[in-house]
Amino acid sequence: MTKIGIDRLSFYTPQHYLELATLAERQGIDPDKFSRGIGQEKIAIPTHDEDIVTLAAEAARPIIEAVGTEGIDTLLFATETGIDQSKSAGIYVHRLLGLPTQCRNVELKQACYSATAGLQMACGYVARKPDRKVLVIASDVSRYDLDSPAEATQGSGAVAMLISANPSVLEIDPVSGCHSEDIMDFWRPNYRKTPLVDGKYSTLKYMHFLGHAWADYQESGGRDFGDFVQFCYHLPFSRMAEKAHRQLSNINKVKPDPTLIEPGMAYAREIGNCYSASLYLSLISMLETVPDDLAGKAIGLFSYGSGAVGEFFSGTVQPGYRDSLFTEHHGRLLAERTSLSYDDYLELWNAPDPHDGSEVVMEAAARGRYRLARINEHKRLYDSVET
Ligand code: CAA
Repeated sequence: MTKIGIDRLSFYTPQHYLELATLAERQGIDPDKFSRGIGQEKIAIPTHDEDIVTLAAEAARPIIEAVGTEGIDTLLFATETGIDQSKSAGIYVHRLLGLPTQCRNVELKQACYSATAGLQMACGYVARKPDRKVLVIASDVSRYDLDSPAEATQGSGAVAMLISANPSVLEIDPVSGCHSEDIMDFWRPNYRKTPLVDGKYSTLKYMHFLGHAWADYQESGGRDFGDFVQFCYHLPFSRMAEKAHRQLSNINKVKPDPTLIEPGMAYAREIGNCYSASLYLSLISMLETVPDDLAGKAIGLFSYGSGAVGEFFSGTVQPGYRDSLFTEHHGRLLAERTSLSYDDYLELWNAPDPHDGSEVVMEAAARGRYRLARINEHKRLYDSVET
């Protein structure tokens, strides 16, 4: 059977971040609550000329530069912070990246889960047309109300994945386990900028869904718990992986081993929640920071999107995968960032959002090639600049 999976994967995150110690000072609480309690150091904050489109295009750029656009006939854009109720954000990205016009575009939504639906759909499509490739991009800006308990779990970033036959990085197993239920743990009505969230309940439901999805994975003929050398979890905050892994280890009557999850938590600590991109940021973090060669080894992944859908799935790391990663580029993205004062954070948090068609010209501040230059007459106008 032809192998199908992730041929390339790359992330992007803005150059500014808020130290959670700064937020702790503002909220008058012990900074350890964030660094130890939820396992977060920093949250990435976009400039006013960055949004889910520019983050997505920046995430995909290294992939397109490395392998070109040939064979890409589908772009699946996963987000829960969409900029339009009708037009897919992927259409803008399609133009910015210079993808062929013979290409379909669609946006997918189910909270933080939708990129996994995109990945599975892409694998199914490539199974039918093995000469084609699908670009799956997850991009989100996670915003919660100021001074709420969830504020420390914000973040922003995008992950782009090229799905193909005979992939260079991770073959995705055909078997997976799903669980869906209509619950209200986190949601955002169309008229709200920030979500409504029942934080503690959402954390409990995440773990219940993990148990159900794992059970379905097992019933569907999935691998044994002991077969996995690393696990990657959806990370609304990095310590969620500890809670989740303890739960899955208990179900399998095994003592939790933190070394099986820590590599996947590293980048999230520095970036925060990227919603739909978060699980795949964890996958990149794991692939780029585990010192041993993982070729031929099995990885377990759990995707969770509030509302809610959970899916446990798995894959096999491919020989020579390191040659297809963008480790140095990602290292530079993380190293070359600047810390915001609380007041500068507040200014960026309040991104311009004209509702009357008036013109807003964005100051050029993004470090990447792509930027949101203006909003005018209800249209978002993107620029591409040489970097
Ligand atoms: N030193 C060390 N640890 C401390 C501490 C201190 N001084 N003070 C508190 N802590 C610990 C607490 O003991 C607690 O640890 P445990 O979870 O192990 O008990 C942890 O810090 C968090 O503290 P609280 O329990 O007081 O929780 P909180 O009121 O700060 O809220 C939260 C935490 C519920 C995650 C909140 O940030 C939130 O609502 N976040 C958004 C929702 C979310 O991320 N849900 C996750 C599942 S849903 C999902 O995954 C989808 C998605 O992306 C949104």
